[in-house]
Amino acid sequence: MGHAVPVLIRRVDEDDWPIVRDVRLRALRESPDAFGASLAREERFTEAHWRMRLRTSPTWVAVDDDGAGRGLVSLVPEPGSPEDDRHVVSLWVAPESRRRGLGWSLLDTVVRAGAEEGARTVSLWVLDDNAEAVDLYVRAGFTRTGEKHVLPRDPSRTEERYERPASPGGLVG
Ligand SMILES: CC(C)(COP(=O)(O)OP(=O)(O)OC[C@H]1O[C@@H](n2cnc3c(N)ncnc32)[C@H](O)[C@@H]1OP(=O)(O)O)[C@@H](O)C(=O)NCCC(=O)NCCS
Repeated sequence: MGHAVPVLIRRVDEDDWPIVRDVRLRALRESPDAFGASLAREERFTEAHWRMRLRTSPTWVAVDDDGAGRGLVSLVPEPGSPEDDRHVVSLWVAPESRRRGLGWSLLDTVVRAGAEEGARTVSLWVLDDNAEAVDLYVRAGFTRTGEKHVLPRDPSRTEERYERPASPGGLVG
């Protein structure tokens, strides 16, 4: 685990909004069931929306040698959660780049960033039927909290909150 991948993970700022938009819309098209967000809504976002999102949500993009975005993750304060928690959202790796450790590296990046921001914990929500993601999170040291939601758009599916310590050493620290 954690082996090097020929992809650079880069913290983006608001001027990088076009690549973030492209990767995010591809993620929502490719994995509509993994995310609570609506593709139709984000397709209508203007430049100002993307810039505002990037100003309020620290975001990292995984960029290939050819400049193409291959992955995405953001770290946000979750409304209603403790001040010293940071919340992982939008984690996605392009299908052609999966199972090479990129999801692990993106998570490692946000667990370190959370620690740098002074967070005590890093949390996330994952659907119980998303086996790839649950497997990744458990291996990355996230544990179940028992806090569950039923998906409003499909009450047969549930999601659960997972948590792990923020750590300056990342996933192995
Ligand atoms: C979940 C996701 C981010 C994993 O990205 P990835 O780059 O393939 O993950 P990694 O290569 O770093 O895998 C790390 C570990 O996660 C687990 N894992 C990843 N994909 C898996 C799969 N298809 N089946 C089982 N375990 C898997 C394994 O433990 C894996 O380690 P291994 O390859 O040594 O067995 C990716 O599958 C994805 O983008 N899925 C769609 C969007 C999504 O579900 N996002 C999360 C929303 S909460």
